[in-house]
Amino acid sequence: MKPETRIILTEDGSHTLYVDSLGEYYHSVYGAIQESNHVFIWNGLSSIRRQDIVVLEVGFGTGLNALLTYISGKKNKIKIQYDAIELFPLETSLVKKLNFTRFLDMDNPQLLRDLHTLPWNQIHALSDIFTLYKILQDFNHFIPEQKYHVVYFDAFAPDKQPEMWSEKNFAKLFHAMETEGVLVTYCAKGAIKRTLQRVGFGVELLNGPPGKHEMIRAVKPG
Ligand SMILES: C[S@@+](CC[C@H](N)C(=O)[O-])C[C@H]1O[C@@H](n2cnc3c(N)ncnc32)[C@H](O)[C@@H]1O
Repeated sequence: MKPETRIILTEDGSHTLYVDSLGEYYHSVYGAIQESNHVFIWNGLSSIRRQDIVVLEVGFGTGLNALLTYISGKKNKIKIQYDAIELFPLETSLVKKLNFTRFLDMDNPQLLRDLHTLPWNQIHALSDIFTLYKILQDFNHFIPEQKYHVVYFDAFAPDKQPEMWSEKNFAKLFHAMETEGVLVTYCAKGAIKRTLQRVGFGVELLNGPPGKHEMIRAVKPG
């Protein structure tokens, strides 16, 4: 069943969503844009020294990470293939109310809406350097067909959705990543760190975004 969500204002002024049934937010209440930039863009995407990067996002959600990745890729002239998996797409009426673009340097103010309205399970060229492939599927049953340089692991917290953070799922991602590829997540729990190490990743604890002490970056060794 599709979870009920409502819009919440976070401390940096940007919106996030709250899922009543899970008691869980889509982003940090200390700042949604701030968290996404810190965890996924600066410590994930920007750590890859390549001019063409293949990204997988687990949990497309509001599209904020996709939006920030598009902006970063354009600014740094990096070609990006962005694959994102999601089981519960949001209603366009809700997406239209999200205020992210107010804080971002956008060449196309409709981009957030487009990210959501473009059909699932098809490849879309959003510019000459950015392609989007949204996969409508349960991540627990997802079989990757591609090798990724960066994985944005943005599932709900391990205590809310433990199956998403299973050793089986991380092993699946490990095998779907290029060597020296990175998996980043806002989570810094010891149990998740150890699961990532067991499947073969080298794990670093980095400073977290404001309001969070640490985050994880897992690297697939060469
Ligand atoms: C923390 S939110 C993601 C936030 C998102 N990255 C953003 O920037 O808005 C977790 C996301 O995982 C999705 N999700 C939950 N269970 C899933 C599953 N089994 N397979 C794929 N996606 C799932 C939720 O619907 C939600 O969009």
